[in-house]
Amino acid sequence: MSARLPFVGGNWKMNLDRNGAVALSRAVAQDARDLSEIEIAIYPAFVHLDAVNATLALAKSSVRIGAQDVYPAPDGAFTGEVSIAMLRDFGVSTVTVGHSERRHVIRESDELIREKTIAVLDAGMTCALCVGETLDQREANTTDAVNEAQLRSALTSVTLNDHASLVVAYEPVWAIGTGRTATPDDAQDAHAKIRAVLADVFDSSAAEAIRIIYGGSVKPDNAPDLFRQPDIDGGLIGGASLKPNDFLAICAAASDARRAEGVST
Ligand code: PGA
Repeated sequence: MSARLPFVGGNWKMNLDRNGAVALSRAVAQDARDLSEIEIAIYPAFVHLDAVNATLALAKSSVRIGAQDVYPAPDGAFTGEVSIAMLRDFGVSTVTVGHSERRHVIRESDELIREKTIAVLDAGMTCALCVGETLDQREANTTDAVNEAQLRSALTSVTLNDHASLVVAYEPVWAIGTGRTATPDDAQDAHAKIRAVLADVFDSSAAEAIRIIYGGSVKPDNAPDLFRQPDIDGGLIGGASLKPNDFLAICAAASDARRAEGVST
């Protein structure tokens, strides 16, 4: 970790009913109160945003509300889709884009991912842009090439005024929800290469400021070693974000890693 403020996101995916979402957001708000030097966001399903927003507001929580997806057009005939303005009404300030489940299961195109990235950043929201290789791509030694291609594609014609508004999530597809995690050294290596691509796409000071977070079976026991790596600035957490104690432990590991370096905000 480094001078960058750690970012930990809880990606709840298509889980929880309304009561469960309220209970989990209340627990996260309570737990996050004692943590400093960290930015925390939770990403519930669209239908729970209203309830989660109300719960976090009641708790006067600094935990940010995220959406798992967005449609890039401002309004119009897009059946089933949700716009940035609609999300804003529910307190959303960050959106995940390009998650592997959307790339590979829902078959979103690179072009749509680029349009979403631009829409989120143009709206002044934090875009958590996900990249990562499949197992086949890893075994063919193309991890860095895949990450680079996904980054360059999504960031074409993006200009950054505020570096805090882009977070890159490196999520090896083979590690998501599988219990398999990249080793801290492998993850660090991929993150350093991603930072080099960002330096080329933008410039070196932007690349130094952008948080690059790791996702893929992060748990309380592997989080400390991952977050101690110099280019790993937090995590995007799936399964473990549904368990308040685990999510808290992971957030605490990110906060501790930052503190261990004696960096103050
Ligand atoms: P996981 O999911 O922590 O369950 O592997 C991570 C993600 O999909 O963001």
